[in-house]
Amino acid sequence: MKIVMLGAPGAGKGTQAKMISEKYGIPHISTGDIFRANIKENTDLGKKAKEYMDKGLLVPDELVVDLVVDRLAQDDAKKGYVLDGFPRTIPQAEALDEALAKIGEKLDYAIDVDVPDENIINRMSGRRACVSCGGTYHIKYNPTKKEGICDACGGELILRDDDKPETVTKRLNVYHEQTQPLIDYYTKAGILKEVDGTVDLDAVFEAIVKILG
Ligand code: AP5
Ligand code: MG
Repeated sequence: MKIVMLGAPGAGKGTQAKMISEKYGIPHISTGDIFRANIKENTDLGKKAKEYMDKGLLVPDELVVDLVVDRLAQDDAKKGYVLDGFPRTIPQAEALDEALAKIGEKLDYAIDVDVPDENIINRMSGRRACVSCGGTYHIKYNPTKKEGICDACGGELILRDDDKPETVTKRLNVYHEQTQPLIDYYTKAGILKEVDGTVDLDAVFEAIVKILG
């Protein structure tokens, strides 16, 4: 099963992708997590990506596409995957389709987690992210058992640098301009599925499982 998660920053893509990954036994591939891991390790890619991420801008397509295509070629991705945060521009979506077509494959579902902008800022200020595994929590809506410590791996939880309200507003604008057109793109491809992302996380997951079966 090959799935793409769509949705605004903070819509819950990462939260749902992790749940899908666990239930269906497919890897969760988040470009944001890959960049954050590179920033933490201070790699060249991390240094370049940070410049854009801290401003709420997208990292240029050429830094993203090859990275994902290489990742999808790894063994664990043979049975499928859930992509979170990629593609987020039309050129990225086209590049993905082309790379898959080359090996005779195609995406099965694009799931759009729909949350209006008004709900987003509130969610972001309470989000905590694990620096080690990318696990995502919320101080109110999805708290960890021990404060500041990831339930899944014991890693340290942080407030993401790009979760300041001004940066969130910028990311929302960038989403509407550059990523929202993908909803049309995947509607035309006949694989778009919409879920209401404003209900609690288990209810969102239930709606997704209904779609995936
Ligand atoms: P990325 O890491 O992908 O961030 P994003 O798209 O902005 O999305 P978020 O991770 O902020 O939100 P989410 O939808 O995963 O929500 P979450 O589950 O955490 O990208 C970061 C940056 O990297 C980009 O700005 C860009 O610069 C760069 N980048 C990455 N990929 C790129 C690409 N392909 N091309 C170019 N640049 C790229 O949930 C949010 C919060 O809400 C959490 O606290 C969660 O616990 C809570 N929550 C979730 N669901 C619910 C619910 N139903 N009810 C209540 N609370 C909920
Ligand atoms: Mg995320």
